[in-house]
Amino acid sequence: MSIEEIIKQFEPVQHNLLNILHALQDRHPQNCLTEQALDETARYLKLTKSSVYGVAKYYTMFSLEPRGRYIIRLCVSPVCELLKANQIMAVLEKNLGIRAGETTSDGLFTLELSECLGQCQEAPSMMVNNEVYNGLGEEEVQRVLVRMRRRKKK
Ligand code: FES
Repeated sequence: MSIEEIIKQFEPVQHNLLNILHALQDRHPQNCLTEQALDETARYLKLTKSSVYGVAKYYTMFSLEPRGRYIIRLCVSPVCELLKANQIMAVLEKNLGIRAGETTSDGLFTLELSECLGQCQEAPSMMVNNEVYNGLGEEEVQRVLVRMRRRKKK
């Protein structure tokens, strides 16, 4: 689906800006917003380029840099931190061979830190793209990564 086709799924009204940016980013194979996507969005909504770029840069859920197919966001807010999110991070970093903020060389995973995911009762928690994983331990994390790697082969 082209950028134009994605954008035109939405009414050309300014309050659709975030929805359009989400749709464009979700459909990009590298989970990011390109210059062309932002320019076409600005034109479609009759906004200035700088205002669209400003929004894309303001929200941490958007990225202007290429990222992995799977974005892992590990919560490091207080409750998760108390329940040893740092150990989960160590497992992720060791298994993936990257640090927070980096992408694996095969382009499959990007590892990010996150504020509270609203899952505190079942902490520690992380998201992989739009899926939430709670009550994490080392085995669960390993299982999730194996599942994601298998999906890649399909
Ligand atoms: S502190 Fe981690 S989900 Fe709330």
